[in-house]
Amino acid sequence: MSETPFQPFIEDLRKGKLVAIPTETVYGLAASIFQTEALQNIFKTKRRPFFDPLIVHVSSIEQAKALVKVWPPLAQALAEAFWPGPLTLVLEKSEKVSDLITSGLSTVGIRMPRHDLTLKLIEAFGEPLAAPSANLFGRTSPTLAKHVREEFSPEVVSVLDGGPCQIGIESTILGISVGEGALVNLQILRQGMIGEMEISKALTDRGFQDSRDFSFKPAQKKLVAPGQLQHHYMPSKPLILVSGDMSFETVKKRVKERIYELPDMVEEVSLVKPERIEKIERVELNIDAGIAARELYAELRRAAEIPCDILVFYLGPEHQVPEWQPLLDRLYKAASLTLSY
Ligand code: TXA
Ligand code: MG
Repeated sequence: MSETPFQPFIEDLRKGKLVAIPTETVYGLAASIFQTEALQNIFKTKRRPFFDPLIVHVSSIEQAKALVKVWPPLAQALAEAFWPGPLTLVLEKSEKVSDLITSGLSTVGIRMPRHDLTLKLIEAFGEPLAAPSANLFGRTSPTLAKHVREEFSPEVVSVLDGGPCQIGIESTILGISVGEGALVNLQILRQGMIGEMEISKALTDRGFQDSRDFSFKPAQKKLVAPGQLQHHYMPSKPLILVSGDMSFETVKKRVKERIYELPDMVEEVSLVKPERIEKIERVELNIDAGIAARELYAELRRAAEIPCDILVFYLGPEHQVPEWQPLLDRLYKAASLTLSY
């Protein structure tokens, strides 16, 4: 029975056509890791620069092991604790993984997505799938099949509709480097709903000791993951973050003063600048970080579709809590401007 629902998508993947896959985080734009042309087509279709590596999606730990040089016990523990789920592990790659996937890096990012349809698709296809988020480079990630359909034509991308994404923001990316001794260095390269505390706890629960077996390095300033680019996730109209109380009138005045002074392009992402600044649409998110993550990208898309010139999100003290950190990361990168008194 499992053959029929996936057959058209498997044929597409075999032919080298891109398939949008549902995951618990955001929809991915997938191709076989062994098809060079299809991989190149991912970059072309997304208008993504080749310096931005792709994440490989697997349906089993065995598949993941074949993609890396060394699969340390700590990676096994993390995979058992969090997979399928929103954690990408970055490890030294094996020969199987092409430079096109890793942008020439010696490491590869791997995760097992928590979505039945996609796990079954990968299993039936029999090969891991490379997939970035299914949006144009630098723009808002898709959390519904319709978001993907709005951005790409059906001739170029087939969409496997798996409903709304349950988490809503991209996976946590964890760099794992095995040094000379027993100590494994860990580094969060992109924040997500799984934080350092949870990772530490999962490891200590499984007998690994902090400082003896693993140690967290602070997030690097140097660009190792384009999730760390200054601008990313940007909606089609400028998003303005406002700290504290500020009337719409003041916001408009301040934006007018500043937005035209900004560059047109930042890190290969073009800033959208409105011709006039009259109508504001307010972006609203639930105070609960888990719910807000699920709403975030759809809400940014909704607001940008309303006839308006700019989007505004008000930052308050209620957002200054650890659970909101990955959301604030996305909001700051999606924003064209931040205003405060
Ligand atoms: O939740 C997710 O991770 C989603 C779903 C589709 O799985 N994927 C996703 O892919 O967000 P993308 O391409 O939009 O972001 C992947 C990030 C990029 O910023 C990329 O640079 C980083 O992962 N990445 C991939 N391989 C890496 C590596 N070897 N070293 C450092 N960063 C890496
Ligand atoms: Mg992305």
